[in-house]
Amino acid sequence: MNKYAATITGRNIYYYQTVDSTNLSIRRLAEEGAPSGSIVIADEQLAGRGRLGRSWFSPPDSGLWFSILLRPRLLSPPDASPLTLVTAAILAENLNSHFHLPVKIKWPNDLLIEGKKTGGILTETKVTSDHIEYLIVGIGLNVNQKQTDFPAEINQSGTSLYLAGGREIDRIALFQSLKKDLLKGYPLFFKDGFSPFRNLWIKHNITLGRQVTINRADGKLKGQALDLTEAGTLLIEDKDRQIYPVSSGEISQ
Ligand code: BTN
Repeated sequence: MNKYAATITGRNIYYYQTVDSTNLSIRRLAEEGAPSGSIVIADEQLAGRGRLGRSWFSPPDSGLWFSILLRPRLLSPPDASPLTLVTAAILAENLNSHFHLPVKIKWPNDLLIEGKKTGGILTETKVTSDHIEYLIVGIGLNVNQKQTDFPAEINQSGTSLYLAGGREIDRIALFQSLKKDLLKGYPLFFKDGFSPFRNLWIKHNITLGRQVTINRADGKLKGQALDLTEAGTLLIEDKDRQIYPVSSGEISQ
């Protein structure tokens, strides 16, 4: 075991030097009955996955790649959809307040510093007959990468906490701090929904008030991002002052 593995031990935390994807790995454990709150963390992912079928660059020794398994007992599938917003709000608050890093949220859950992406969240759900069997929250954070560590495709658009803050960050301390806040926040979300997290999300977001183009499954929507409701729905006002509620998609500009 290396130092990283030895330090992060504890019930239900699985550390691997290399995995295909921590989301896939925790899904396999979930299928074997792993309990809620189990975490898979890896130093390197060979097939890290991003949203919308993209891959996620996950080299060794530099980032934080982990996935959390949740089994909320009483949550209905639609009520789970703000989970990524909740996760982004908790991560941004933690990185700003404990690590003094100016991390911002771009709707719905990209973590940016000075407009460049430093982290992302991939949430996956297993639902059987209208009931959530489990949720997986996969978190990727670029922590200590130098600019030359990024491949050409993301060299302009990506950044790391190190590049933004000018100092290397102890990934174990960072993981422990984020884990504590996330595992404290999720039970509150399951009990009271998105509203206790709305102010935090709003405090750190850079989307509200802007003109945006949103790619949705049913086409593009252009307009001003007006507000985020208590239920976690983004409200977009188009040029004809028509208001559209949006709960998933991606901002293309
Ligand atoms: C995004 O596209 O913004 C989401 C990226 C999520 C990446 C993380 S890294 C840990 C977990 N395992 C994966 O394969 N993906 C997520």
